[in-house]
Amino acid sequence: MHFKKNILCIGAGYVGGPTMAMIAFKCPQYRVTVVDINPERISQWNSDRLPIFEPGLDEVVQACRGRNLFFDTDVEKGIREADIIFVSVNTPTKTFGAGSGMAADLQYWEKTARQIRNCAESPKIVVEKSTLPVKTSLAMERILTSDGDQIYFDVLSNPEFLAEGTAIHDLEEPDRVLIGSHKTERALEAREALVEIYANWVPRERIITTNLWSSELSKLVANAFLAQRISSINAISALCEKTEADVSEVARAIGMDSRVGDKFLRASVGFGGSCFKKDILNLVYLCRFYGLIEVADYWEGVVRINDYQKDRFVLNMLNAMFNTLAGKKICLFGFAFKANTGDTRESPGIFIARELAEERAELAITDPKALDNARIDLADLGEQIAYVEDPYDAAEGSHAVAILTEWDLYRDLDYERIHGSMEKPAFLFDGRNVVDHRRLFEMGFNVFPIGKAPLTHF
Ligand SMILES: NC(=O)c1ccc[n+]([C@@H]2O[C@H](COP(=O)([O-])OP(=O)(O)OC[C@H]3O[C@@H](n4cnc5c(N)ncnc54)[C@H](O)[C@@H]3O)[C@@H](O)[C@H]2O)c1
Repeated sequence: MHFKKNILCIGAGYVGGPTMAMIAFKCPQYRVTVVDINPERISQWNSDRLPIFEPGLDEVVQACRGRNLFFDTDVEKGIREADIIFVSVNTPTKTFGAGSGMAADLQYWEKTARQIRNCAESPKIVVEKSTLPVKTSLAMERILTSDGDQIYFDVLSNPEFLAEGTAIHDLEEPDRVLIGSHKTERALEAREALVEIYANWVPRERIITTNLWSSELSKLVANAFLAQRISSINAISALCEKTEADVSEVARAIGMDSRVGDKFLRASVGFGGSCFKKDILNLVYLCRFYGLIEVADYWEGVVRINDYQKDRFVLNMLNAMFNTLAGKKICLFGFAFKANTGDTRESPGIFIARELAEERAELAITDPKALDNARIDLADLGEQIAYVEDPYDAAEGSHAVAILTEWDLYRDLDYERIHGSMEKPAFLFDGRNVVDHRRLFEMGFNVFPIGKAPLTHF
């Protein structure tokens, strides 16, 4: 079969895999190859057990794998054959040197840029899919053209806005697709080549174009705004717990204001995921770099409140349970950073499990999709933690259950049965406000929601 163009994606992670699967699914006229330096990841993408859990992903991959979607480890061959190269490698927070703990670690991204330059034998359109600090595409251009300009590269920015857990839906019906480019005739042609791909299924009016820097910055700002809403409502949840106001009622009242809107106003144990914290810290670092100290401090507050919320959750548990957790069994319902994903990167569960272990509690962790990752995250804690598939088994004999992930499953469990199998007094800490607190209280639980007065029998 003759394909219109060859698309390559470097990085077969949570973004590269699903986004390319969707492009291949919607655009059978393009040949899409996803490469990664991690051979295990590639063989998982080629197997029946994909490396990530995402509702609807299996079906999309199955529909086009082997047809026009391929997963491979040969990065160099992929580069040589590609017309359009998406770069979707990880850009974690730096853990060393200048900007450690805050700036983006660009080593994977830069290696990729050099590899593209070294292997390319024909002009390429290079698309930044990874989330990067504003002005990174300038560095990308410099690296790509540092070999004497024999081969022409067009660099575009096309940040990804999908959310894990709803990635397939978000890719199929994106609120918008953002493409940043220069304004030269050549750059506009390259931009049009990318627009043409998305236009196979995304309405044109949802494909928006900007200059390169606005596009790069918009991704950081989008995540900063989303996280800020969570930290805002979480900050108010602390006040609600002191004043007998109810954070769900407050959220409802303010969310009905059309200027505010009702999304992302659920109080919780705190946000997690690989992006929010790293992207905000990246933004903070950029602001400091440009001498905008007040702006940096403002956004850093979003991360501070998130840390505070996780801390507060553990302290509430400790206080409620008579200031000692040593030797008590605590069961964690959920370990993924949100429902419908197995991803545990930056999950509040990691912090909370470690704090509880520090208090010498024994932990049983249950989660429908994230136990493999949990085992890796907490490997150093050894025997202190049991990983249990079945929530009823996990809760049996425990002094407390703490709900950390909003899986639907936890809403509908038989809590009478759970209460019956627990030590008394039985505590339930609802870090996601998902269960019926009054009903559980009436069953005998001492219930501690987020942002609402506790319901206790003492
Ligand atoms: N996860 C999300 O929800 C999300 C959403 C939007 C944007 N992003 C951004 O997308 C980017 C990727 O995120 P992710 O969650 O997919 O990360 P990930 O860690 O799941 O995947 C990145 C992959 O890149 C591979 N890789 C690294 N260096 C490579 C190289 N030189 N050659 C080939 N492969 C290489 C890694 O092996 C890994 O499999 C990040 O910049 C992130 O901020 C993530």
